[in-house]
Amino acid sequence: MTEAPNPVTMNQDPTAGLEGVVAAVTRLSNVDGQNGILILKGEKIEDLAGKIPFEDAVGHLWQDLNLTGVSSISTGFADARMAAFDVVPLLERAPAALSVYELMQLGLTALPGHAELPEAIAICGSLPVFLAAAHRISKNLHPIAPDPSLDTATDLLRMLTGSTPSSEEADALDRYLVTILDHGLNASTFTARVIGSTRAGLKQSVLGAMGALSGPLHGGAPGPVLDMIDAIGAPDNAASWITGALARKERLMGFGHRIYRTRDPRADVLKAGLHLLGASNPKVQLAEKIEAAALAALRQAKPDRPLDTNVEFYTAVLLDAVGIDRTLFTPLFATGRAAGWCAHVLEQQTTGKLIRPSSQYVGPMPE
Ligand code: ACO
Repeated sequence: MTEAPNPVTMNQDPTAGLEGVVAAVTRLSNVDGQNGILILKGEKIEDLAGKIPFEDAVGHLWQDLNLTGVSSISTGFADARMAAFDVVPLLERAPAALSVYELMQLGLTALPGHAELPEAIAICGSLPVFLAAAHRISKNLHPIAPDPSLDTATDLLRMLTGSTPSSEEADALDRYLVTILDHGLNASTFTARVIGSTRAGLKQSVLGAMGALSGPLHGGAPGPVLDMIDAIGAPDNAASWITGALARKERLMGFGHRIYRTRDPRADVLKAGLHLLGASNPKVQLAEKIEAAALAALRQAKPDRPLDTNVEFYTAVLLDAVGIDRTLFTPLFATGRAAGWCAHVLEQQTTGKLIRPSSQYVGPMPE
């Protein structure tokens, strides 16, 4: 064995993270990280979330996709929820050790093809059912059948809790689902596009994307955000707790982003939704104090790296205010983002091109 010709070491790798690399051309969404603007098919996120229902926002995102056979996204999703409920008995028989997220993946794996529903509709419509059923199974409760007369957000909350939510709660969840529909070439969407580029089916692409989303640096942050808020406990503790965490080189969950060098616009959309729910909630007030303290501490600790509030911070506070268990935050993220994943896979497949980048070998060479 001889030394590799190039002395680049793994931790000096300038390509690590592919930052700034353009790996797809898309008409779906644009993340302008310098100016804090997120555009979904020509519309700013703040002009969609809280303004049109989730189903219409999906229709907006999917407008170029061929979804023949469904009269509307709402009807398609309602039919898909009903079809998915047939798979729920399988989830009830699954090993108890499986997490809600894994049960959702199991449900998706077992979801049969539907003669009348496009696969994207069947997949996206099924996830609320699998999420709610898996949560209830994990609590030794009976799964609740979907109600096709309801919209996705209302039915999801009803299937989770067994009672019809207030319109404010359903609107808050609906706003969240729209906010997270799509977001450029993030890790899970890239994963979905890579899998889709092999001409694997939509289901396999969504399952792979769910794997990518499960990590704490991507979709797994909101639960830890709430843990952080709980650990801080009171506004007066915020500054010292945060200084201590940064001194221990810990990351503050809900802050920082690969693309945004300013505030993530989705944070404000969710914060506005939170205020519609009632900002007098002491947890909301605590969260706002923590946000202010975190931003001040991050500015001081990392003056050269703008680190601002990301979507996960107010996701955590909003979903908590709606009464959703923190263990369900990542499953819920997948439920909303699945529409974006499907759109990206179908868009990628129109190129007919396999995604296959190169790597630079820096290991030993044979004699
Ligand atoms: N708290 C403290 N320091 C941070 C944070 C944070 N939240 N985020 C980044 N930094 C620091 C890093 O420690 C690093 O410092 P160093 O150069 O001294 O080592 C520097 O900023 C750059 O960090 P990177 O990880 O290289 O930057 P990247 O752009 O890859 O990070 C990420 C993006 C992973 C989201 C990061 O900001 C983070 O870990 N945030 C906390 C987790 C989180 O909120 N995730 C949800 C993201 S939103 C989403 O996925 C939907």
